[in-house]
Amino acid sequence: MSFFSIQPQLPDTHSHQGEVSWKCPSNIALIKYWGKRPVQLPENASISFTLDNAHTVTSVNYQPRSTSEKWVQFLFEGKEEESFEKRIVKYLNSIIDDIPWIGQIAFKIESENSFPHSSGIASSASSMGALALCLCDIEKKLFGLKDEALFRKKVSFLSRLGSGSACRSIYPHIAAWGPSEMIPESSDLYAIPIDYLDEVFTNFHDDILIVSDQEKAVSSSAGHALMDTNIFASKRYEQAGTHMKSLLESMKVGDLTSFGKIVEDEALTLHALMMCSDPSYILMEPNTLEVIKRIRTFRKEAGLPLFFTLDAGPNVHILYPHHIKTEATAFINSSLLSLSHEGRIIKDQVGQGPVKLK
Ligand code: DP6
Repeated sequence: MSFFSIQPQLPDTHSHQGEVSWKCPSNIALIKYWGKRPVQLPENASISFTLDNAHTVTSVNYQPRSTSEKWVQFLFEGKEEESFEKRIVKYLNSIIDDIPWIGQIAFKIESENSFPHSSGIASSASSMGALALCLCDIEKKLFGLKDEALFRKKVSFLSRLGSGSACRSIYPHIAAWGPSEMIPESSDLYAIPIDYLDEVFTNFHDDILIVSDQEKAVSSSAGHALMDTNIFASKRYEQAGTHMKSLLESMKVGDLTSFGKIVEDEALTLHALMMCSDPSYILMEPNTLEVIKRIRTFRKEAGLPLFFTLDAGPNVHILYPHHIKTEATAFINSSLLSLSHEGRIIKDQVGQGPVKLK
């Protein structure tokens, strides 16, 4: 049963062909989603900054499907990618009850990322977000739908089924996913925008220091699954709830000290959970720890609000408010860049959310 009212088979009166294109950003979680239950439902609520420069652009060309035709043709950065194509077919099959008309349409999908494939940056959030935006946009055109808030909710719902964290990429600035007593409208089916926090967070910086560009040894999906047997799991979900409450309180009043403490705790908890799962694994590299130590020393000595967070990987997200950009950039260039892989850094910041290109 779908949460959304289902648009049935294609209407006769509309043109069934066209092209849509969307740019969807990635996001970085401040409270981490780690641990899930079927189907793609989070064990705890999470909250993230929507990014800007790290994004995926996806274009979908659609037309009525003839029986002889391939359902989906997928080009990634101009080239046919069979493994990605299979993943998309699997995804479309998994959402066909929520959006049945897709079975009657043939899709040619082209996608590209703003960040290099081998940057160690996960692309599932931005790519699943961009694809869900395109599908819902086509649905809007075919069925003449107008409700913008419902459109976003359905996009978030469908992108969640592709990759959990993708559901938070659909909104500007900050989004939360999962039920929280602090957020009245929150749901574990889709994310919602959080737009009442202090202004300092609407243009926060996130410079992503690439410590390693290797593909990670354990995927996020496998990592989530290991939470099912992690002996600390229930304590962790409890901690995430407490963190969500205090983080929102700090962000409402712009308390950067408390914001930074919670965000760093979350990053280290995520990696601690990986280290104590069975089997155990470590995604941090020696330079990840060195960067963290230097950030903490800088913060103490300079007295400036510069923090770190980590994704499920070795790269360090350096978070700081816009008003310390000059000092932060000088510190990163002089003390951190030499610890990155080939001097690579992706300079990003909190952004305005997805953009319709066509
Ligand atoms: C550490 O969303 O990549 O980035 O739902 O299996 O696709 P799947 O996992 P994914 O997990 C993201 C984990 C995280 C934390 C977060 O983004 O909240």
